[in-house]
Amino acid sequence: MKNMFLILCSLFLLVGKLSSQLVSIPIVTQNHAIVLQTDQKKRLNMVYFGKSLSNAKEYANVTNEFKFNDDNAGFYPNTYTPSGTWNLYEPAIQLTHADGNKSLELLYSDHSVTMIDANIELTKVVLKDPLYPIKVTLCYKVWKKENLFEQWSEIEHQEKGNIVLQKYASANLYFTNKDFYLTTFQGEYSKEMQPAETLLQQGIRSIDTKLGTRAMLTQTPNFIVSFGKPASENEGTVMIGQLAWSGNFKLDFEVDSYKNLRLIAGINPYASEYSLAPNQIFKTPSLIYSLSNQGTGEASRNLHNWARKYRILDGEGERLTLLNNWEATYFDFNEPKLTALFKDAKNLGVDMFLLDDGWFGNKYPRNGDNAGLGDWQENVKKLPNGLGYLIKEAKKEGIKFGIWIEPEMVNPKSELYEKHLDWVIRQPQRPEVYFRNQLVLDLSNPEVQNFVFGIVDDLFTKNPELAFIKWDCNAVIYNAYSAYLQKKGLPQSHLYVEYIKGLYKVLERIRAKYPKVPMMLCSGGGGRGDYELLKYFTEFWPSDDTEPIERIYMQWDYSYFFPSIATDNHVTDWGRQPLKFRVDVASMGKLGFDIVASRLSPSDKTFAQQAVANYHSFKDIVWHGNQYRLVNPHENNIAALMYVNNEKTKAIVFHYLVNNRQRITATERPIQLNGLDPNKKYSVKETNLYPYTKSTIDSTKIYSGDFLMNVGINPNITLQRTSVILEINEMK
Ligand code: GLA
Repeated sequence: MKNMFLILCSLFLLVGKLSSQLVSIPIVTQNHAIVLQTDQKKRLNMVYFGKSLSNAKEYANVTNEFKFNDDNAGFYPNTYTPSGTWNLYEPAIQLTHADGNKSLELLYSDHSVTMIDANIELTKVVLKDPLYPIKVTLCYKVWKKENLFEQWSEIEHQEKGNIVLQKYASANLYFTNKDFYLTTFQGEYSKEMQPAETLLQQGIRSIDTKLGTRAMLTQTPNFIVSFGKPASENEGTVMIGQLAWSGNFKLDFEVDSYKNLRLIAGINPYASEYSLAPNQIFKTPSLIYSLSNQGTGEASRNLHNWARKYRILDGEGERLTLLNNWEATYFDFNEPKLTALFKDAKNLGVDMFLLDDGWFGNKYPRNGDNAGLGDWQENVKKLPNGLGYLIKEAKKEGIKFGIWIEPEMVNPKSELYEKHLDWVIRQPQRPEVYFRNQLVLDLSNPEVQNFVFGIVDDLFTKNPELAFIKWDCNAVIYNAYSAYLQKKGLPQSHLYVEYIKGLYKVLERIRAKYPKVPMMLCSGGGGRGDYELLKYFTEFWPSDDTEPIERIYMQWDYSYFFPSIATDNHVTDWGRQPLKFRVDVASMGKLGFDIVASRLSPSDKTFAQQAVANYHSFKDIVWHGNQYRLVNPHENNIAALMYVNNEKTKAIVFHYLVNNRQRITATERPIQLNGLDPNKKYSVKETNLYPYTKSTIDSTKIYSGDFLMNVGINPNITLQRTSVILEINEMK
């Protein structure tokens, strides 16, 4: 973990001394506070969520002002609600003790607060069952400046045998505000990340997945809660959150009989009972959330800043622009075709060529998606001189070389399947069920972990100049059954959890040996992308859908959760928009191409080259600057979005027409910018102009930041001018 360098102070409070009085534990960031407090019975409740108070002592008085107490008939503010005793609502934890008893009580024992550095603080609260030797540690890590919370739980025991955890949530929160609006994001292949906002009514709204791998395909662990009114960009209290777990998850949003909100988030208990040995710690994944009193814009910027600085691999670094051959060739390529594409990459001005699927398999060549997966040797017909030759040829053109792998998967038509059937997740007695003609390898098995690590290690050992990996994952888990767990006498219900832990172990090993090399997370489009995996990956692939109008919506919706440096956008031939529109949209993130550049018309080619050069000049602001969503395409005929550098001296504004109705005379009104300095003077210049077109924007005019943010500027979007990028520069 970055920057965890100094333990400044550590404060331990002993419960013995405090047993007669209530213990109040404020967890505070720059603007927000969550307050935990014991009650007379020593149960720990979440009693406050809101603005931080200037006098911390006053948090102790919060509960006096709430009159919800009803002997547990409907009021459940508990911080980790147990089951089998007094609670009859949805629990955070449910278990069976070694003796078969199913009751659990959790009472406050002690807590500690550790300053990791001036910005980061970790609060750990220990809860214990008075009857059984069970201990749950609730962990709250905050980044004060970013108003960012990361919360997880650690469960352990000293019973005489294993206990069985039926449910083991990461976080259990309670909000006493009124009216909660929840936005969740659902999807399917090539239609990822579609938002839906609802006013929560009494009862439980659950968001969950049981897909095992590629887990975000239909439901995502991302959500926005808006307090009191629907979420808006620049005002109101909002929470933007994500369960950082790459497998099955479940988020329960329960409005109780007092119309308060309980949020319980964690690994999906579905088919996942976990048998925990004495003294072994079960650490749950993290719930990560960013809070703001100024709407989703600020909450996203907080999350982006945090993610870049503390979470995403090389989040503050650089990225490689690229040309990918997937849609240019699919599986049909050979050395001459690829080396010709290297020239295209060079002519475009991108940094790298990315060789996609289809380069491997000999007994069962990978000439389609039905064979070869698992056999990671170069196909000798397509690539007689191997990857080393391609890397050398790319180098001659002055570009880097990256490669696609899908190391967790296998086609039944493969040597791997023939040799290692016991490595494949499948029910031995039942017919196999395929997703894209393939099956998932059993990453709970250490031998499979070695195999997957070996694929990457081998590639880098043989080709030290390999510059990039696209790590794909195209199938879900059907017929969940592990031959390995069976052999080891371990419960099958561990598979979903151990699979993901196995994946993290492999990535841990890869990063120990290859700490820097950029890797793209891909999952048959956007089935993966979470803040646990992004510890190991520099970026992710949001969707195979690169149709630029759809993409505007998708990138907009992903941007609530991820900074642009982490999202890979490729220009392809999807849809009917002109090249300029496609390139402009893909420039709002990490730019790539997946086209046959040599087939572009001369003016398209000139445009593409200029656009790549322009992108290199403004990418720093897109990657490292602050993002402001200006005009929401879900509610308007246009979309507008901008990025401003930290010094507020440079900004780049993207505008698009997203509706083609003839009646539209977009843009009648100016678009108000955001994030500039009201006292600075700026020029506004259109960039990425298509060859032989003139801008209607007067680049000689000077505006104050005040004017640009309050009156705004009209980008003159019309049915003929559907995509406009403006560069804003401070004039001294
Ligand atoms: C998935 C990815 C694509 C491409 C193909 C290759 O669908 O999302 O980008 O890599 O696999 O088979």
